[in-house]
Parts: sequence; C-alpha cells; structure tokens
Amino acid sequence: MSDLPRVYVTRRLPQPALDLLSRHVQTTIWPGELPPPRAVLLKEVAEVDGLLALLTDRVDAGLLDMAPRLRVVSNFAVGYDNIDVAAATQRGLLVTNTPGVLVETTADFTVALMLAAARRVLDGAQYVRAGRWRTWGPELLLGRDLWGATLGIIGYGQIGQAVARRASGFGMRILYYSATRKLDQEREGGPDYAPLDQLLAESDIVSLHCPLNDETYHLIDRDALNLMKPEAILVNTARGPVVDTKALVEVLRQRPIIAALDVTDPEPLPADHPLLSLPNAIVTPHIASASVATRTRMALIAAENLLAALRGERPRYLVNPEVWGERVISVGEG
Ligand code: DGY
Repeated sequence: MSDLPRVYVTRRLPQPALDLLSRHVQTTIWPGELPPPRAVLLKEVAEVDGLLALLTDRVDAGLLDMAPRLRVVSNFAVGYDNIDVAAATQRGLLVTNTPGVLVETTADFTVALMLAAARRVLDGAQYVRAGRWRTWGPELLLGRDLWGATLGIIGYGQIGQAVARRASGFGMRILYYSATRKLDQEREGGPDYAPLDQLLAESDIVSLHCPLNDETYHLIDRDALNLMKPEAILVNTARGPVVDTKALVEVLRQRPIIAALDVTDPEPLPADHPLLSLPNAIVTPHIASASVATRTRMALIAAENLLAALRGERPRYLVNPEVWGERVISVGEG
C-alpha cells in the first residue's frame, strides 16, 4: 500500500486541482452533489493527514477530535467561518484559505446584483417571458440610476475596494465603513469613511463585504435596516448571517427597500422561505465567485496550500500562522 499522505476532499473540484493532488497524495473524493453527511465526514477524517473542505462543511472541535493524523485543513474559500480555527490552533493544525484570487470576480457579481436590483433586470426578463411586452412605454419598468447614487461599502478589504473601483467608474459617490481606515485612499480622493449609522442613512445602495464573526453577526439588524433610506438597495455577497433575515423580511414587507442577496441565512434558502415570495428580494445561490477561471484558481490554491503543509512547508495562505510559529520553535529546540 502507498505511503503517500492521505487526503479527503469533500466535493469534486475543478479537474486541474484533482490532477495536482493525485500526483502527490492519495485522494478520496466525496462524489455527491450535496456535502458529505456528518457521519461520513467523521468516519473519513479518522484516516487522513489532510482535509480539503468547502464552506458547507462544519469543521469543529468534535470533528477534529476524530482526526488523530490530521495536519491541515485547507478551505476552498476565502471565508473560513465554517472552521473552528481556535480548536484547530489548539491542536496544532494548520488552517488555510484562498484569498485574493476571487476578489475581482466577486466584485463583478456585486455590481451585477446592484444593476439587477436598480434597473429591474429580472422584472424585465420575466415581463417578456410572460408575453406581456406589447409596446415601448414611457413609464414601463422604471428603475433607479447607479450613476450619481451614493454607495455605502461595509467592510473595506480587497473585495470592498474592488467594488469601489467599479463604482467610481459608474460615477457613484462612495462611503465606506470598516474596522481599519484607509487614510491614504481618502487623501487621494478615494471614498470617504463614515460611521455605520451615517453610512446607512446616506447610502442609496449598501453593499456588505465584511467577514462573518462575532462582531459582524447581525450587524444589519432591524435598527440598521430602519436607518436605511426608504428606497435603498441592500446587496449581500459576504455571509448571510451578517443580516438578521427575520428583520429583513419584515422590513421588505413594509418598505420599498430592495434586497439583492447572494448569501442567505439559512443557506441554502428553502423554496418556501418568505424572502422568495417578496417582489423586492432577489436571491442567487452563493455564486459571486463562480466563474470558470476563478473557481479553477481557487481549487488550485486550496490544493497547493494543502500539499505545502503536508510537505512540511509553510502554506502560502495560512489562517493561523501562530501554529507555524510554534512548529518552527519546537523544531529548532528539538
Ligand atoms: C468565499 O470564498 O468565502 C466565498 O463565499 C465563496 O466563493
């Protein structure tokens, strides 16, 4: 039997990444379209040195306790809220992710949602398909302009900044709210920083780009929604639980705010969820990074991170570098 390291991959990935893995490790791939059931995952991790996980896989302390040989969890995503990083760190396990590569693709899709909501793209397509298009009309399907509108970006990391670059091309005024100020950009005529309340009150479109963590869970709650302009557009391509969904549904029922959501809570959204019966909600199935090129690059990066860790090299995108620091010290001391 081969003594190559063993790796469990929780879904079929773009082929170049599977080819790369198969050259260096013994790979078992969950073949299903849906994520592996928990029981399968618990059984499989018991035997492996590396786990290549998706954002749909919960990697918690219970799972890590079942994985005595595991050295690395490589997440096929930039977000890693599906992983209990503290538990992994405690056990000396490396956690990696795929930042950077999906920035521009995600920003493109964010703008697609803004345009779809503001310019009623889905309403228009539906209108034609339903056979209702009988003439050109001066007041047919009137929408709102992006140009000249104020965009409020919450979370001004790489994706937030890529959205700002696109928005400035549209002639939008841009505000941002973030844990860290980008004073250099502000000085160079970039977006203005605004406290959250001010951003919500002044923006025609609010777009979310923050990670999900204890600080951002339900950041957009009922109070936040009530601060938004009566006809504002809320775009979420970050994580569903950044928005309080129950409050959002109530606000959408009462006011002409439009929500354009690529991520939801829960995810997937059940077909009978109240959001899906509201005319002012547009929901897509978490596809903001879903271009052929970007998903292939994400898969390759996730595979490279995993292989580096198994070779004893520092992976390029390490979420918990403190584990690496400890490892270097203990190797040096030994
Ligand atoms: C991520 O990488 O975190 C996205 O949500 C999926 O592309």
